[in-house]
Amino acid sequence: MGSIVEKIKELKKKRNAVILVHNYQSPEVQGIADYRGDSLGLSREAAKTEADVIVFCGVHFMAETAAILSPDKTVLLPDKDAGCPMADMIDAEKLRELKKQHPASAVVCYVNSTAEVKAESDYCCTSANAVEILSRIENNEIIFVPDKYLGSFAAKKAGKKVILCDGYCPVHMKILPEHIAEAKKEHPLAKVLVHPECRTEICNMADEVLSTSGMERYARENFCGEMIVGTETGLIYRLQKDNPLKKFYPASVGAVCPNMKKTSLEKVLWALEEMKYEIKVKEETAKSARKAINRMISAG
Ligand code: 13P
Ligand code: SF4
Repeated sequence: MGSIVEKIKELKKKRNAVILVHNYQSPEVQGIADYRGDSLGLSREAAKTEADVIVFCGVHFMAETAAILSPDKTVLLPDKDAGCPMADMIDAEKLRELKKQHPASAVVCYVNSTAEVKAESDYCCTSANAVEILSRIENNEIIFVPDKYLGSFAAKKAGKKVILCDGYCPVHMKILPEHIAEAKKEHPLAKVLVHPECRTEICNMADEVLSTSGMERYARENFCGEMIVGTETGLIYRLQKDNPLKKFYPASVGAVCPNMKKTSLEKVLWALEEMKYEIKVKEETAKSARKAINRMISAG
């Protein structure tokens, strides 16, 4: 009887599958990745893979984006309930309402959104290219949904006026100013890196506001030996593994995304054995959403 990892490898070969893993997944799941990265890198991989099956170890909107980009592939989400609460904070109807109120606005949606919201948008972006996407838009007003914190951070950087809704990430919300203050007191030489999904007060207290791939790059390329990391704690495992001589401290140990942690090795194996849970998007919705997503994968 082979180990679970061996069984996954065997079945992966048999199914001609690729395993894509987000930076917030548990260390065991990161260990079986063919490609591991942030939302932007994973979308690009999903678009170009030659595999027949994509096992997406992340949350629902990521698998849905992969299904839109590669409609001829089978996209599997190992836990059907791994959702993103932020993605459900705006729906297509509410967005249509906003568009009616601001008819001259361009519409940008964060990739953490449903396929229906993407289908109503002109551009999609991730935290890695939100500033670049906003900078390119010529309209005087831009509707940005659903993350109000990423939206206001990117708008300030790009010098744009945005119309926001009340969306946020409940995990990054848990990082509070007192957590940063305490961590800085304990590690006075450490640089503070935070994700733009954090509250504005937190972004203002940071040395750098970066996406997860931006944090990886910063840790690799910067001389600084200690970093306080304000994002989901799964990234710390990665940063520590790749930079063993440097030290990484979580800004808050409570910043754990329960949905990202729903995927386990067993569930990945079952996904490959039973070919479930297949994520499909209606072609009519996918066709409109694809335009916005293609603008996202070609930027930044
Ligand atoms: P990235 O920084 O990897 O794009 O992801 C943030 C996130 O919260 C994904 O859900
Ligand atoms: Fe959604 Fe936040 Fe979890 Fe990312 S960390 S999947 S934005 S709830």
